Amino acid sequence: MSQPPDPSQIMQVGMGFWASKTLLSAVELELFTHLDGEALRGGELQDRLRLHPRATYDFLDALVALGFLERDGEGSDARYRNTAETAAFLDKQSPTYIGGILEMSNARLYRFWGDLTEALKTGAPQNEVKHSGKPMFEELYSDPAKLEQFMRAMQGISLGNLHALAEKFDFSRYETVCDIGGATGQLCTILATHHPHLRCTSFDLPVVAPIAERTIAAAGLSDRVAAASGDFFEDPLPSADVITMGLILHDWNLERKKQLIGAAYEALAEGGVFIIIENLIDDARCENAFGLLMSLNMLIEFGDAFDFTGADLRQWCAEVGFRSVEVIPLGGPTSAGVAYK
Ligand SMILES: C[S@@+](CC[C@H](N)C(=O)[O-])C[C@H]1O[C@@H](n2cnc3c(N)ncnc32)[C@H](O)[C@@H]1O
Repeated sequence: MSQPPDPSQIMQVGMGFWASKTLLSAVELELFTHLDGEALRGGELQDRLRLHPRATYDFLDALVALGFLERDGEGSDARYRNTAETAAFLDKQSPTYIGGILEMSNARLYRFWGDLTEALKTGAPQNEVKHSGKPMFEELYSDPAKLEQFMRAMQGISLGNLHALAEKFDFSRYETVCDIGGATGQLCTILATHHPHLRCTSFDLPVVAPIAERTIAAAGLSDRVAAASGDFFEDPLPSADVITMGLILHDWNLERKKQLIGAAYEALAEGGVFIIIENLIDDARCENAFGLLMSLNMLIEFGDAFDFTGADLRQWCAEVGFRSVEVIPLGGPTSAGVAYK
């Protein structure tokens, strides 16, 4: 006999914004950073985070129930601690902090997604450009605080995927890498650290270069990693054995995607390789929910930009002359698409 339908998934996703916003507010308030190696009472956290007494224990105990805090004891004497995961990923003191993407989601995307229905009906972006009509990066980067916030968001969302790429792809046959749209230079510093024979260049808009130079210097890698500036639609890409693009193609419409793939092909040495890192949607478009939701996020951010499948990538790469394309899962929803010239 078949089971009667169960409404729990409907309720969990439909009311998921409660849990989502509770976690995002905890990141905004730097709760997990305040708990750096400590176990604090509710009253101490209330003072440190300047919470209203009405809110303190509902907030903290909800985070316990959601699995983001551990609690020893009950009542006002109970002490709250980070879990292993929040200590590693949401404490700003941790080298594996990924909260930047949640900081930006809290400050920007949470509200913009409130207009999803309008985006679904109009196909138009719902972020800062909704009223200004300016290109997205021009609008965002005109505010230095938003530029820094976007850079921290990219560091957070990409950290694990870029380490996975450094481990899973065989870089031993190549000497030079150019990461196009490299933001803080994160991929280049990770690759140069994992593979001491590589020389890497992180290419991004001029306003981003000082941020990349800072990160590269802080990693002590200025002898093997350089920051280069340019506009990837106007300027030729620096040539290299390996051209990488992490979360770049999904920011653009089909014509721009094909332009970037063609530019990568031109910049590669014969025998070179083009690697994209994206939340590649499964070819049947029914499994990778994060990839499909990321594509809706591209609707919110850019309008005509979209995420895509491995089959789409194969077709576009074949059109410009690449010999073959393989897809390497990087863990979770993300994959590397690797195209050989
Ligand atoms: C979504 S972020 C991806 C950052 C990084 N690759 C990652 O995977 O985390 C897109 C990057 O493309 C850069 N970008 C946007 N338009 C550009 C252009 N016309 N020329 C060069 N870089 C550009 C942005 O500054 C930003 O760093």
